[in-house]
Amino acid sequence: MCGIVGYIGPRQAYPILIKGLHRLEYRGYDSAGCALISDTDNHLNIYKAKGKVSDLERSATGKDISGSVGIAHTRWATHGEPSEVNAHPHLGRSGYITLVHNGIIENYATLRAQLIKKGFSFKSETDTEVLVQLIEYTQQKLNCGLGNAVRNALRLVIGAYAIAAIDSRRPHELVCARKSSPLAIGVVDDNSEFFIGSDAAPIAEYTDRIIYLKDEEVAVITRDAPIKVYDLKGHEAEKEIQHVSLDLAMLDHEGFPHFMLKEIFDQPKVLTDCMRGRIVESPYGHQPAVALSAVTRHRRELLRAKRIVIVSCGTSWHAGLIGKQLIEHFCRIPVEVAYASEFRYSEPVIEHDDVVIAISQSGETADTLAALRTAKDHGALVYGIVNGVGSSIAREADTGTYIHVGPEIGVASTKAFTGQVTVLAMLALALGIAKGTVSQEEYETTLRELSAIPAKIERVLLQNDKIRLLAENFTYAHNFLYLGRGCNYPVALEGALKLKEISYIHAEGYPAAEMKHGPIALVDREMPVVFVATNHDALYQKTISNMQEIISRHGRIIAIVTEGDEQVKAMVHKTIEVPDTISALTPLLTVIPLQLLAYHIAVAKGLDVDQPRNLAKSVTVE
Ligand code: F6R
Repeated sequence: MCGIVGYIGPRQAYPILIKGLHRLEYRGYDSAGCALISDTDNHLNIYKAKGKVSDLERSATGKDISGSVGIAHTRWATHGEPSEVNAHPHLGRSGYITLVHNGIIENYATLRAQLIKKGFSFKSETDTEVLVQLIEYTQQKLNCGLGNAVRNALRLVIGAYAIAAIDSRRPHELVCARKSSPLAIGVVDDNSEFFIGSDAAPIAEYTDRIIYLKDEEVAVITRDAPIKVYDLKGHEAEKEIQHVSLDLAMLDHEGFPHFMLKEIFDQPKVLTDCMRGRIVESPYGHQPAVALSAVTRHRRELLRAKRIVIVSCGTSWHAGLIGKQLIEHFCRIPVEVAYASEFRYSEPVIEHDDVVIAISQSGETADTLAALRTAKDHGALVYGIVNGVGSSIAREADTGTYIHVGPEIGVASTKAFTGQVTVLAMLALALGIAKGTVSQEEYETTLRELSAIPAKIERVLLQNDKIRLLAENFTYAHNFLYLGRGCNYPVALEGALKLKEISYIHAEGYPAAEMKHGPIALVDREMPVVFVATNHDALYQKTISNMQEIISRHGRIIAIVTEGDEQVKAMVHKTIEVPDTISALTPLLTVIPLQLLAYHIAVAKGLDVDQPRNLAKSVTVE
């Protein structure tokens, strides 16, 4: 939700800011802007545009874009519609101080009313303009520098913020701060250059040395000097520099038309990376074994857990539903799966020996972070399953396992989902074998099957062209039903979510049998119904009966089936085959055709797959 970038150093800032905004555009893309202190006369130049970063580039063409200090922003609107006037950076009334912001100032209406009484006026509808005027007011009142003004102003603020600010009277300085919204500062070895980003993506090509601010910390960055960090009361804080490396190739399309398609095709490789060094040969022979360092370190707390609660949102919540089945099957520990946004306000009953698993691709989702903090307050051990290296959830969890699938840029989550399920499977097996709730034979068979999943995904991907042709027949649809049972029920939910978010077709995921209790009323000749109906368990024949019920009502069925399934093929409109695997791991294969189906329907409709309307990749507001 909104991306912020900043630069101060010897180079020209504009190209660095624009490149950084492109890298962060997945966070929001309804308007963009940048501010630079001109090299020639220290004048503050601000350029803004409604639309994408490319629109901003067009609007800045031919203008003075010089300057070696600057800030920039790509927006996902919260307060005020997407428009040039509401785009950041916002300017203080004297015309010197300007600010970019990611987050929500919850008491902005009160602050705004107080500032109006003091003679301030506002051009935009944003909470951010209130913040910059508050900094301006504080600076005049205390007659202080930008760092002190920001620090004192933030003491009056309730809400979430990651901000970067500059003052054209102080071109040697850039100030940033954060609370509950992410912010990273890249530092070049000799303090000659500093890069600000909402995450490491805009920084990674310049330095791997990153400082992450804690909540309510303000960094004052002065040219050629060590960075100074203060809490809101003005006490100086020691900061550790972390080394964070990103695979830069992952930040490009690599010849694919969209990030989403690239990331779907990344899955065999990144799942292999995810398992590397974690599924190993046992020291006693050639049997596979799982080794997760977090489980080794926290073995005692994990094994005594009487209950596990999983908190997450969206696709990560669907992965959590699969995690519940895996953990309950292999470990016989009861698992609850909660929407993080509900959990945090629900007076949750958490005992100190419960374990809470927070699942998040970005590691920055505001609700998941808040749920994690609630769980910690109740004394639970929090286990993070996260992709964003160094992200807030990764840092605040007591322990955890990275999914290591590389940056996910497409707004619709694909490889993160299969990475999360892979880690959940490894975790369930590691705990199950330690507890003695899974037999050695099932443990080894499951690990061998898990290791074989990347090659099986390759086989599903070979059907890409077939799925593309099939998808072209369904662009007419206004509704879709996705049905599955058991391990395939969360996959049905995930397939429906993928379709909704990128093709704007309404879709519902349902347990196949539950469909009789209402949604079947929607079925007619026009209604596409996607069944996830693999044939390895007792639910297969039951699912076939549910298919018959749809066929009797003339619904158009697309069925995801196990390779060689002739029974379903003879019954339904279209089938897509996936290789056979054991029941618990089926979601890792059945989700792939659903990702491709949603992708190709959206492309056939001519939609912006990587940046669908109204969405942002990282939901850092609640
Ligand atoms: C769907 C999607 C979202 C995210 C959700 C949680 O494709 O991407 O539903 O899964 O916003 O995000 P993370 O996993 O970053 O916490």
